[in-house]
Amino acid sequence: MSTLRLQLRFLLPLLVAVGIAAMLSLLLMDRMEVNWFARDLALRGALVSDALSDSIDRAVQEPAASGPSLRGVFDRIVRDERLAAIALCAQKGLPLGSSSDYPANLSCAQAQALAVTTPPQWRLPGGRVHVGWYPIQTQAGEPMALVLLHDLSFVERRSRETQLQMMALIVGLGLVIAVITMVVAQMSLRRWMAGARALLRGQGMLAPTMAGAASVETPELAPLAQDLRERLRDLEDEYRRTLGPDESLWTPERLRGLLQRHLRGEDVIVVSNRAPYLHEEVDGEIVVRRPASGLVTALEPVMRACSGTWVAHGSGSADRKTVDAADRVAVPPEDPRYTLRRVWLTREEEQGYYYGFSNEGLWPLCHVAHVRPAFRESDWQQYRAVNQRFAEAIAQEARGEDPVVLVQDYHFALLPAMLRKLLPRATILTFWHIPWPNPESFGICPWRREILQGLLGSSILGFHTRYHCKNFIETVDRYLEARIEHEHSSVTYRGKETLVESYPISIAWPTPEDSAGWPDVPQCRERVRTRLRLPTDRLIAVGVDRFDYTKGIVERINAVERLLEKYPQWVGRFSLVQVAAPTRSSLEEYRGFQERIERLVERINRRFGQRGYVPVLLLAEHHEHDAVNELYRAAEVCVVTSLHDGMNLVAKEFVAARDDEQGVLILSRFAGAARELREALIVNPYHVEETADALHRALTMPAAEQRERMASLRAIVRDHNVYRWASRMLGDAGRWRMRERIEARVERHSAELA
Ligand code: F6P
Repeated sequence: MSTLRLQLRFLLPLLVAVGIAAMLSLLLMDRMEVNWFARDLALRGALVSDALSDSIDRAVQEPAASGPSLRGVFDRIVRDERLAAIALCAQKGLPLGSSSDYPANLSCAQAQALAVTTPPQWRLPGGRVHVGWYPIQTQAGEPMALVLLHDLSFVERRSRETQLQMMALIVGLGLVIAVITMVVAQMSLRRWMAGARALLRGQGMLAPTMAGAASVETPELAPLAQDLRERLRDLEDEYRRTLGPDESLWTPERLRGLLQRHLRGEDVIVVSNRAPYLHEEVDGEIVVRRPASGLVTALEPVMRACSGTWVAHGSGSADRKTVDAADRVAVPPEDPRYTLRRVWLTREEEQGYYYGFSNEGLWPLCHVAHVRPAFRESDWQQYRAVNQRFAEAIAQEARGEDPVVLVQDYHFALLPAMLRKLLPRATILTFWHIPWPNPESFGICPWRREILQGLLGSSILGFHTRYHCKNFIETVDRYLEARIEHEHSSVTYRGKETLVESYPISIAWPTPEDSAGWPDVPQCRERVRTRLRLPTDRLIAVGVDRFDYTKGIVERINAVERLLEKYPQWVGRFSLVQVAAPTRSSLEEYRGFQERIERLVERINRRFGQRGYVPVLLLAEHHEHDAVNELYRAAEVCVVTSLHDGMNLVAKEFVAARDDEQGVLILSRFAGAARELREALIVNPYHVEETADALHRALTMPAAEQRERMASLRAIVRDHNVYRWASRMLGDAGRWRMRERIEARVERHSAELA
């Protein structure tokens, strides 16, 4: 209907123009034709008069009955169909003779005068005639002239025929032009819209074609493109200006400001499996616990800054007792800043979705840490059902049609596409906290296509490193038919674009008030050594992990054994304090792993232990943040030996804790953090010798070198803190929303035009 209106708007003026052109050309044609015939008749008249001059002369000389009478001569001549009448005039006066039809009321003087007018015409009862005056010479010497009246009816007949043919030609031409215009208008409109959309997606003026095929320029869109580009550039400049120079510190206030400016103060909804706060019943009392989770460590301060709602699995034994009728509870309990919405799962759901598909399937699949992934159909069914449950919970929590939703981690690979169905205008930012493997490794998953399709429901998909982004894009390329724009790092699948970006996660850098409350380093050293019954001169390395096979705990303990073998001077003078929070203990793989570590520690302690000397202290329990912080401050070395890790925030927490600029970080090259923390001692944890040497080097590193390295590491972590991480993601979301708004406006205008 709207296309029809657009076409009428094109066609009506076109038809009016064609009509006017037709009228003008018909008038002109008529004029031209009459002139052509007038010239033609004048010529014919001259010929006729020449031819008749002798006969007329004779008739005039011999008016006797023997000679031809003038009337007889003239009547014979007018039989020619184009001659209506003829008369002979002396220069002045009445005709000397004429054909039978010559009008009695047309005198010679009148005929002579008419012959020089334009057009030289006279009207007879039978129609118009052309009047011609042709002087002739006679023997008598008297000047005479022939008056020839040519019948013009045949001229009019021909003119009408020509006009009809002309008319048919113009109408035919008009119709052809109209059809071509309609087709071109249709095609142009589509290309304009596609071009404008492409421009807004930042793809320049390339008209989208088949996946992977070459694109075509649309030059007619160039001015519009230029305008839109300039407008977007202005907005982006403004955005950067408001962010200020990047070296200035990101704080909760600055993040709040960004939310106000770029997301109109929009509430943020976070969804993760693990909740930031658990309520547990201990000895009849309800206590609040913070889980051992890098994800929670990073996101909690962001939520405090942004407010909004955090949707997560309620897994604490007293969680149901502490929520309201809508399953909500305000947190942090001591100073509520945001809402925690708990989602309940049955034992079967938790088993299939969390333990099964997430932690026996996706976790080993993505970490490639030599534990075989297990994929079971029943786990997959639960995973799908739970993802749908969480998508519905988010839709319930959303206050408008276009909330900003931050989806966290591998537990919710299907959720983005499910949520997109419920809230098509939502801005969905998904962050994948673990590594993304190469396409071959990922190809093991029987539901690889579904996982990719689910994730591509996101507006923005984030990984810690460029390397993981590249792996993801290559995986999409391998298993889906999608358009990949490497230049913009985006994937367009079924007409929907997803930006794939790296956002290295971090921690909240401690404020001066935070660190002012910390006991000083000597105090921490003393407290820890007293608590662990270690002598004051014992040097310690600390490891803080969940009991997970990806963390390289076995390799780390092997390195300690090698250190004591290779550098015996450390026997009795060095201990590893390994904090290992139990995790996913209902899985056989994890229980087996914990037992293996315990056996290994026992063996080494037996081998190198002496009275009062324990080389490896295994603290297999959850430690609260303050206790961990005290350990970081008390240690000489922190060891992170992950076999594969998305980021690893322990490394960053250790650096943040060392405001004395002392202490050495040993860091696995397979942790995402190694890309940023270059001043750490970077090791290959599979190479036990190398890690043992790094331990020795760390324990003997001069204070000045420690200071230099630590100062540099601290500057990096302080500047690249978690508020900066969130601001980059939310800033991109703001730009994404702006682009969508402009795109919607362009489409609206185009629809109105149509
Ligand atoms: O590394 C992925 C991750 O989700 C982390 O963000 C978090 O530290 C850890 O796994 C938590 O695991 P879980 O919630 O299973 O104890």
